[in-house]
Amino acid sequence: MGGLKHIISTKQFLDTSILENLFLVANQMENEDKNKKIKQTLKGKILASLFYEPSTRTRFSFEVAIQKLGGKVITTESASHFSSVTKGESLQDTIKILQEYADVIILRHNKEGSAQIAADVSSVPIINAGDGAGEHPTQALLDIYTIKKEKGKINDLNIALVGDLLYGRTVHSLLNLLSLYSAIKIYLVSPPELKLPQKYKDVLIQENIQFEEVEDIKKILNKIDVIYVTRIQRERFLSQKEYEQVKGSYIINKEVIKSLKEDAIIMHPLPRVDEISPEVDDDKRAAYFRQARNGLYLRMALLHMLFNGELKQRRL
Ligand code: CP
Repeated sequence: MGGLKHIISTKQFLDTSILENLFLVANQMENEDKNKKIKQTLKGKILASLFYEPSTRTRFSFEVAIQKLGGKVITTESASHFSSVTKGESLQDTIKILQEYADVIILRHNKEGSAQIAADVSSVPIINAGDGAGEHPTQALLDIYTIKKEKGKINDLNIALVGDLLYGRTVHSLLNLLSLYSAIKIYLVSPPELKLPQKYKDVLIQENIQFEEVEDIKKILNKIDVIYVTRIQRERFLSQKEYEQVKGSYIINKEVIKSLKEDAIIMHPLPRVDEISPEVDDDKRAAYFRQARNGLYLRMALLHMLFNGELKQRRL
């Protein structure tokens, strides 16, 4: 164990004390920002955002995070169109070039495993901002931070993960983190075609986390403390026909949330399509915009701790 530089998977996070430290620093970042007193701890650092897939939250929040800490950003609009991959350059060569220009690379790529491939050749930290249907570790970190902020705890909660559990990389990363906690029950709510892959269920089994696969969301609504809704990942389907078959499987609207506990929270990594109706946005239980805001402070904390060697991680 040591202060590893790459963030590829949430499996690297060894225990909850590391997460608690991260939450403390994220809180500190939020307070400093509110008081307009952010310490410029990353002055002179350059962040490269290399996104081969679209992004609003992850890319902008990372870019803002480093700038608030005194660093700078280099980027390209849609790396798959405007970087030299269009001329046939490999990901490895692209990373070997960017490492000469930047101190950290935030990588989003359509292929599962690409972040590890980049890390294998990189002398600067690689942060996985989503690798196909694999993982999205920083999203999961901000998700678990949001649960802690909203509910005051993570242990002893009933958590429903809803929607595309097959391709939803945020769910995959979040499950690894949830498995560090105790006395939680996880409901895996999906259509049969989009069930959670066995390898992620194996983590839950190994860590003795109670879970249940459910198709009918109505059966569990009144039991849950956290409902984490995900988009059906249209871009991962082999055909439009397959997507159409599962599209709109779960729609959270005013009628549905009548069955939720008064103190439950509704989360979503966003972007949403039709799975949470905008009429739910004004409900106090709708936490998804607060969740996105937490992403900025969590990523500021992560960058700060990464560069200061404060992130103790488990080697993959
Ligand atoms: N949650 C998330 O990853 O959003 P973006 O695709 O907008 O970055």
